[in-house]
Amino acid sequence: MFDQPDFDDHEALHLFNDARTGMRCVIALHSTHLGPGAGGCRFWRYPNTQAAITDALRLSRGMSYKNAMAGLPAGGGKAVLLGGGPAKSAELMGALGRAIESLNGRYVTAEDVGMSPEDMVNIARATRHVAGLPVAEGEVGGTPSPATSEGAFVGMRAGLRRALGREDFAGVHVAIQGIGAVGEGLAERLAVAGARLTLADIDRARADALGKRLGAAVVGAEEIMAIECDVFSPNALGAILNPRTIPALRCKLIAGAANNQLETAEDGRRLHRRGILYAPDYVLNAGGIINVTAQYLGERDPGRVMAQVHGIEQRLTHVFDEAAEEGLPPGEIADRMARRLIGRG
Ligand code: NAI
Repeated sequence: MFDQPDFDDHEALHLFNDARTGMRCVIALHSTHLGPGAGGCRFWRYPNTQAAITDALRLSRGMSYKNAMAGLPAGGGKAVLLGGGPAKSAELMGALGRAIESLNGRYVTAEDVGMSPEDMVNIARATRHVAGLPVAEGEVGGTPSPATSEGAFVGMRAGLRRALGREDFAGVHVAIQGIGAVGEGLAERLAVAGARLTLADIDRARADALGKRLGAAVVGAEEIMAIECDVFSPNALGAILNPRTIPALRCKLIAGAANNQLETAEDGRRLHRRGILYAPDYVLNAGGIINVTAQYLGERDPGRVMAQVHGIEQRLTHVFDEAAEEGLPPGEIADRMARRLIGRG
């Protein structure tokens, strides 16, 4: 385990098994240099335990980088709750909560794929090291998506300035892949700012409805990556930027919230060679973790949290400036900055 590439100097890797409820989970802690390892819990059915461990390791390292670049007093960690066993229940979440509690605050959980605010409430019965709990309208915390959409919007603006020399979105053509919780909020903000939108989602009815509401064009999910546009914004899946898709792109900027957009680091270099500016996903999509971490830390002023989310624009500008100065892909610059921040530069 210590020698496998994904281990990458993790501080700890925990496997929990609760015989009574059947709860099994992996909790990976990449770095607590800046604070407790913060990162959501994923509920997923993996082909085997090794695949779950690998996913937890990759995701927790990603959280170290994301939290460091967001300026948070938080390290990187991630939990993976193994699906395929008992269905989700209050008891299962209680067992997960006890596992988290046993780490004494070195790991703080929140929602990720397959987990809801209600699950967080059940986890919170066993531990206080949980964020993303439901809140009343206008309070800090709750679902992370609106803050992620807002951060993606200002992050895209930083890219627009660098790639198109534009300060505003009026008439800028943005193609959005995936209009779920984050993509929809982003599309709404862009429509208000006067962008020309083309939307796609595998749920065509959803795309058609949003297109109608915002006056946006809609294309099939298989077409969106190749349409001619100023900005391509991935907000659905990971690994979509790869040797098969990059040659067909006809955009100047890629700026979206989907996690792990580059299939490999080489794809970042491929985009760079094609003259397409890539906004590193984990810098641009940090709005949600900023919001849920603020809740965990007891911040009560939504204005201060929003100011932190808006800091994403400045941070990306900094990444783009250094990338231009050194002639390197922005993803490599962001990784380097993040590693320095966590004391591994
Ligand atoms: P979601 O599940 O609400 O939305 C995803 C949307 O993408 C769905 O409407 C789905 O139908 C669509 N989709 C799936 N495959 C597609 C394809 N091949 N082509 C077009 N559309 C497709 O998820 P959410 O929360 O909006 O997250 C979107 C992305 O952003 C994910 O990669 C997620 O990991 C990432 N992210 C989300 C954050 C959040 O606060 N929700 C925070 C940081 C990252």
